[in-house]
Amino acid sequence: MKTITLNNGVKIPVVGLGTFRAKENEAYQAVAHALKAGYRHIDTAAIYRNEKEVGQAIKDSQIPREEIFVTSKLWNDDQGYEKAHLAFQKTLDELGFDYLDLYLIHWPKTYQKAADSWKALEELYHQGKIKAIGVSNFTFHHLEHLYETATVIPAVNQVEMHVGIQHEKLRAFCQEKNIYLEAYAPLMSHEIKNLLANETLQKVAASKSATIAQVALKYLVDLDVIILPKSTNPQRIEENIDLFNITFTSEEKALLKGLNNGRKYFPDPDNIAF
Ligand SMILES: NC(=O)c1ccc[n+]([C@@H]2O[C@H](COP(=O)([O-])OP(=O)(O)OC[C@H]3O[C@@H](n4cnc5c(N)ncnc54)[C@H](OP(=O)(O)O)[C@@H]3O)[C@@H](O)[C@H]2O)c1
Repeated sequence: MKTITLNNGVKIPVVGLGTFRAKENEAYQAVAHALKAGYRHIDTAAIYRNEKEVGQAIKDSQIPREEIFVTSKLWNDDQGYEKAHLAFQKTLDELGFDYLDLYLIHWPKTYQKAADSWKALEELYHQGKIKAIGVSNFTFHHLEHLYETATVIPAVNQVEMHVGIQHEKLRAFCQEKNIYLEAYAPLMSHEIKNLLANETLQKVAASKSATIAQVALKYLVDLDVIILPKSTNPQRIEENIDLFNITFTSEEKALLKGLNNGRKYFPDPDNIAF
């Protein structure tokens, strides 16, 4: 599996299995199958309520813990210095691990809460309990404010990203700040039917005997972002990692770039109601 080196030298596999909306048993089966299929990166979160099953599937795989990169996230209600410490310990206990590879602030709330939570994450990072720390759903102004008090630069920013939202400006900004972008909902999530119905993707896929999902995912990998496709279906889990032989001509790249229409399927981080 191809890896990317984060700003602190930690290596992260470029494709990770997403587990949002994977219920407990589904999550266990999906992670177990993904590890057999060659995945070494799993994305979960406290709010997904499947950390226990994710951790158990990893343990049962008998693959050494250090060969698997696992991300979890601090939920909104748990933001704040002390709460973040407690929430992290709960996540670690649920997973059954003694360290986590990557821990993210799931959504930005107030600047103060982000700064206080970040302080806790920095401490856990310095203690070696987390290999890398980052954020999710942060826009420019959230990052600028975090920078005012942060002593550790976020390693990643996990944001909604697919062919419809290509984040040209945020990518350039994060690149300049040495933050990797991770693409969540790379297949448009619950609206995957929109992705599958896209004629440009259909045309490009047909010309190279790849699937539409594979074309949409490989395009993101070629933009130098980490992708987190979710599937609980064994065949689609395998399909979503079988991308690395797909290449695009400059004409195809231009067509795929043209799909960037700004249509979001998740809330605007400045207007969340949760
Ligand atoms: N940080 C955040 O706020 C945040 C928000 C959302 C998501 N995430 C993370 O990002 C991951 C991915 O996002 P997501 O789960 O919302 O959506 P997604 O990965 O874009 O799409 C998942 C949907 O696509 C289907 N699918 C997967 N592979 C397919 C294929 N090859 N062909 C056809 N359909 C396919 C899945 O169904 P099957 O399972 O039936 O295959 C599921 O319905 C999440 O699981 C989570 O880990 C993070």
